[in-house]
Amino acid sequence: MSSLIAEKKLETSIRGCPIDHTKLAAQKTAPENYQGKPAFEQDEEGNLHIYGYTEARALLRASGTRQGGFNAEQLERLLKTMRDPILYQEGEAHRDQRTKTARFFTPTTTDSKYRSFMEKFADELIQKIKQEKRVNLSDLSMQLAVQVAAQVVGLTHSRRPGMAKRIEAFFTQVPQDAARLNRLLGFLGNQLKVANFYFTDVQPAIQARRNHLQEDVISHTLSEGYKPLEILTECVTYASAGMATTREFISLCAWHMLENADLKTQYLAGNQTERYKLLHELLRLEPVVGTLYRRATEDIELETQGEKLNIAKGSKISLHLYATNTDEQIVGDAPNQVCPARTLPKGVPDPVMSFGDGNHRCPGAYIAIQETDIFLSKLLRLEGLSIEKAPDLSWNELVSGYELRNFILVLEHFHELSAKQ
Ligand code: HEM
Repeated sequence: MSSLIAEKKLETSIRGCPIDHTKLAAQKTAPENYQGKPAFEQDEEGNLHIYGYTEARALLRASGTRQGGFNAEQLERLLKTMRDPILYQEGEAHRDQRTKTARFFTPTTTDSKYRSFMEKFADELIQKIKQEKRVNLSDLSMQLAVQVAAQVVGLTHSRRPGMAKRIEAFFTQVPQDAARLNRLLGFLGNQLKVANFYFTDVQPAIQARRNHLQEDVISHTLSEGYKPLEILTECVTYASAGMATTREFISLCAWHMLENADLKTQYLAGNQTERYKLLHELLRLEPVVGTLYRRATEDIELETQGEKLNIAKGSKISLHLYATNTDEQIVGDAPNQVCPARTLPKGVPDPVMSFGDGNHRCPGAYIAIQETDIFLSKLLRLEGLSIEKAPDLSWNELVSGYELRNFILVLEHFHELSAKQ
């Protein structure tokens, strides 16, 4: 991939890797082949597509853009009458919200506040696998992701169990090419599902916090004077940004490691730093959010290494993370394979761009990796666990990412491998 605009001074040393790359596990989820793409290009409609890592990073760190994905533009008219959720905010309002909520997401908080909950919930899921011997991992991973994010958000007073199912219901999309009536019915049905989520999960959480604020996102929004509809929108945002994503990532890692005994052995033998590195490498290769979108709100000129990229106000910009994350100038040899020994240039994080970059960079990264590690460290130690049916792979337009469904695991005879810290 040619890198015409490279604003940063990445040290692009040849990274000698001791591992035999012919034996590495290959990528599973990419919707198309991005090899040979230019660093950026414009399509016939004038939309800009960015494939190079440094170009994407420069754009995400530049001012003069707003969110163009996660239905932001479809919901624009509705949101005019109310406060934007964090994902759609820009400028001072966004900075203020990020600063005030940062304390919920630090590595220290993630470890001290959420670890015991994650351990306990993961143990319950493992117990269920031991009892039932045949499970759908995509359901279990959703339950874990929903319950963990619920602690951070403050969705802890639901009137009934089953929040994961209620949230999953409103993510089910009616295909764009469905008949108009079906699309309308789908839209109305979705409003009912969101209303069900509001009355069953969000409203009781608000009530419980009105007179007794806690350390979570809903308490924060109440202290900022958010109205119930604005709090609901924030909760739906966390559901798509935090729950739907982590759910897929957990299944994805299990899929790779249950299919590749070497990878599993290496993961289980590693200390926490080594395990996290492997999880980050899997996330680099299989970014759960495949494309980020932005709209230029002013003319933008990116000046990089003497090259200029002019982006006209109003342009739609697609940042293709499968391409940025396999940019050979950044990730070195065998970009489309899982290489746990990969070393990246200084300043490039191990998951490359899978958690985004710039001011909207994912605040939940530590949470996602910690919960995935806690659960997988227990799951993969169940001896006799194997895949009965690999997951069905489909594409979710809302998060522009893969979905793994009907992932059936069986536990044929059962011994626990001894735990290693
Ligand atoms: C593997 C799991 C996850 C992945 C791959 C992921 C990925 C991302 C990405 C790529 C963005 C940037 C979107 C953009 O720039 O347009 C983002 C934003 C965000 N994520 Fe995550 N995420 C994950 C887990 C979580 C978790 C566990 C939480 C919370 C509990 C969370 C909360 C958020 C929020 C609130 C934003 C919006 C931040 C802002 O706009 O300032 N995410 N995530």
